[in-house]
Amino acid sequence: MENITGYTRLLGVLADPIKHSSSPIMMNHAFKKLQIDNVYVAFEVKEEKFDEAVAGLKAIDVLGFNVSMPYKERIMAKLDVIDESAQLVGAVNTVVNQNGIWHGYNTDGYGFVAGANDMGWDIAGKKVVILGAGGASNAIVCQCALSNASQVVVFNRPGKNFDAMAQRAEKLNQAYRTMIQVKDLNDLGLLKQELEDAYLLVNATSVGMGQNQGHSPIPDASYFNPNLKVMDIIYHPLLTRLLEQAQQAGLEYCNGKRMVMFQGARAFEYWTGQKMPTDYIKTVLGIE
Ligand code: ATR
Repeated sequence: MENITGYTRLLGVLADPIKHSSSPIMMNHAFKKLQIDNVYVAFEVKEEKFDEAVAGLKAIDVLGFNVSMPYKERIMAKLDVIDESAQLVGAVNTVVNQNGIWHGYNTDGYGFVAGANDMGWDIAGKKVVILGAGGASNAIVCQCALSNASQVVVFNRPGKNFDAMAQRAEKLNQAYRTMIQVKDLNDLGLLKQELEDAYLLVNATSVGMGQNQGHSPIPDASYFNPNLKVMDIIYHPLLTRLLEQAQQAGLEYCNGKRMVMFQGARAFEYWTGQKMPTDYIKTVLGIE
């Protein structure tokens, strides 16, 4: 903060709500560590002020910004160029201002796969079971196809997200070798069966946080196979009920902090051309 000058460039994250975000902490520590003269702040912007806020960011020529819920789709109409993987996901979480031309990227899928790799997990050629079919799941499913998972089974409750995911799966199945299926989360027998030979289970539902804290989307540890790896994209709480179940069963597991850090690391690279010092940022964020 004490080093802000007339040359300091502004970045931030546009979302609502956003005050809980760890992105400002992560980005500002990384800028400071690499002596980059940037500052990153959280902009909590209401829906009716979104257009005005984006126009303002353009007018003041920010270096770039992240976009989170509920604006990841709405921002797309404001961009000049949209990266292929962001087009595939249908959502943008990172905007880069390249001499007045705004480029949109989606780094969520990268965050997922880099987070898994950081655990020593490699999804190429493997079966991934994903719970949930919302925005986060969408980015993860696309990334599984891009990273050559052999099979993806998405479980969700029947409804709008289920139908949208089924449509997406159909499109992805035509374009990629990964076989993607969407199944009913209420069919616990089917869930158990699909988990028997799964490599990785990802919770991308909100079961385990907020009002659902203390709940797990999996009834009990009998659903796990002994080699299963478990990722919860929730990071508040750090240890969800699902991760507790995984821990008690002796499985490898991780929470959502790695995904958050690596999606940020990719955005950081787009903005600065430099690698985020992730080992250092892990200590800042308390990632073990
Ligand atoms: P995000 O951006 O984090 O993905 P989202 O788009 O709101 O958030 O998606 C939330 C996901 O959690 C959805 O898949 C939702 O399932 P529905 O499509 O059936 O709503 C899932 N979810 C939320 N509460 C749930 C619950 N109690 N049981 C099962 N799934 C739940």
